[in-house]
Amino acid sequence: MTTIQKPLKKPMHGTSKAKGCSHARLGNFCKMFPKLKSWAEECKITEQCEAEAVAAAIGGVGGLMHDVRDESGDSNIPAAYTFFAQFVDHDITLDTTSPLHGKVPEAEIAKLPNLRSASLDLDCVYGLGPEAMPFMFDSTQPGRLLVGSEVDGVSNPEDVPRNADGRALIGDPRNDENLFISQMQAAFLKFHNRRLVAANFEKAQEETRYHYQYIVLYDFLKRVCHPDIYSFALPKIEQNAKKKGKKNYPFCDILDGCHRICMPVEFSVAAYRFGHSLVRSVYPANASYPLIELFDERFGTLGFGQVPPELNVDWRYLLDIEDCHPFSKSKKVDELLADELIRLPDPVVGRNAATNDRALAFRNILRGHALGLASGQAVAKELAAKGYPIKLPADLKFSDIDNWACLTKGLPCDISKHTPLFLYVMREAAVLGMGQTLGPVGSAILMETFGTMFVHCDTFLKKSWKPDPCVVRGKDLTLADFMAYAKG
Ligand code: HEM
Repeated sequence: MTTIQKPLKKPMHGTSKAKGCSHARLGNFCKMFPKLKSWAEECKITEQCEAEAVAAAIGGVGGLMHDVRDESGDSNIPAAYTFFAQFVDHDITLDTTSPLHGKVPEAEIAKLPNLRSASLDLDCVYGLGPEAMPFMFDSTQPGRLLVGSEVDGVSNPEDVPRNADGRALIGDPRNDENLFISQMQAAFLKFHNRRLVAANFEKAQEETRYHYQYIVLYDFLKRVCHPDIYSFALPKIEQNAKKKGKKNYPFCDILDGCHRICMPVEFSVAAYRFGHSLVRSVYPANASYPLIELFDERFGTLGFGQVPPELNVDWRYLLDIEDCHPFSKSKKVDELLADELIRLPDPVVGRNAATNDRALAFRNILRGHALGLASGQAVAKELAAKGYPIKLPADLKFSDIDNWACLTKGLPCDISKHTPLFLYVMREAAVLGMGQTLGPVGSAILMETFGTMFVHCDTFLKKSWKPDPCVVRGKDLTLADFMAYAKG
């Protein structure tokens, strides 16, 4: 016998329903351009081994995306935005089901579950809320998120909360993968707790979400997107978020029948992985540790364990928080990935991972093949046809890449004309974004995807909400203000 449960009158804390999409309600992956041929079809690649050979030449160890000699210089983007970008990734997308070495049939892509809600709702911070995930909350103070760890007699009040084994008790385990993302997570916990002083849980959660969304739209996207595309898309996002009924922007329909946002693979497997090019092999942590490796076992920066108190990150070394305080920058936005990301350690990829499976650029290209992504040139045409100011065809000067002829010799097709989307987006950033921002195609994919979230989800744009003047220190809210406020 089946019993029919009455619907709850009030939503559970942290899972409040929002118009158009619901917080903490998961969706699936999908394609922004489902009608386009895949890059492999364009290149007449039928065998898996051919796709692997191309992925190895492009993204493998010593391949054309490997910054072997650490030659890619700095961008103007403060280094902290790299980890903010990664934090945003972990808030909106998580694929644990698609195979790396294989192909997902076209009809199955829309059935792949996205294990994060694609809605800038901070489910990586709140999980499913205090009722469903009480171990993340302080039982003595309603609505307060736990902060600080105590492992083997060592206490670190600036760390994320952990169990006795050192495992982080947080909404997304990936936010403990390296020292900086872990400390960024801790900053979000503290920001929420500061807001809680004058509010209840729901209000503090909403305030934290809205400040975060504001930074994504007006600070982060403005820095990383090409200015022509950002200024084209931003007013449309602002107008459409306020519009009732039919919205005419974003152009690509990535809502399912229940008006949930599906996560477009053009974003999650290619354009938004641009962040991998921002990553450096070494960073300053604080005054005593001015240069540590991103993954350095000696200092515990391998993540997934307690942060030693001496390594607590002083964000002034990675962000423009204080006048005249020097801070490090992100690597250039280009087709080169730091050596550290081409030799990923065991905790990130597993102990038995093969050499190229440890290379993130190889994984990105091969994952794009598994999910049937179209070529960058084909996607560029579609976006231009939808109205984005994109000049066609773009000259991405592939032959200027060192050893281009040698690296691409013997490949089944001309990669400069049929470019896998991830390589296209990164080369476009190097040439048309001058290494400082994404190019037009990468930017348009970001504005389409984030635009859908801002227009269809519960976001600050739908209210007449403004950042708290106590948080904003300059003219407009930035990540530096957020981090300074979180520190208290
Ligand atoms: C800081 C060092 C980082 C490391 C070690 C890292 C590592 C990884 C790894 C191992 C994957 C899975 C790759 C695959 O098997 O397909 C991945 C996926 C991804 N990364 Fe990163 N990443 C880093 C930074 C970033 C940044 C800064 C961004 C964003 C701007 C980013 C965006 C993404 C996205 C969107 C995915 C796909 C997530 C999914 O849908 O499952 N990552 N990353």
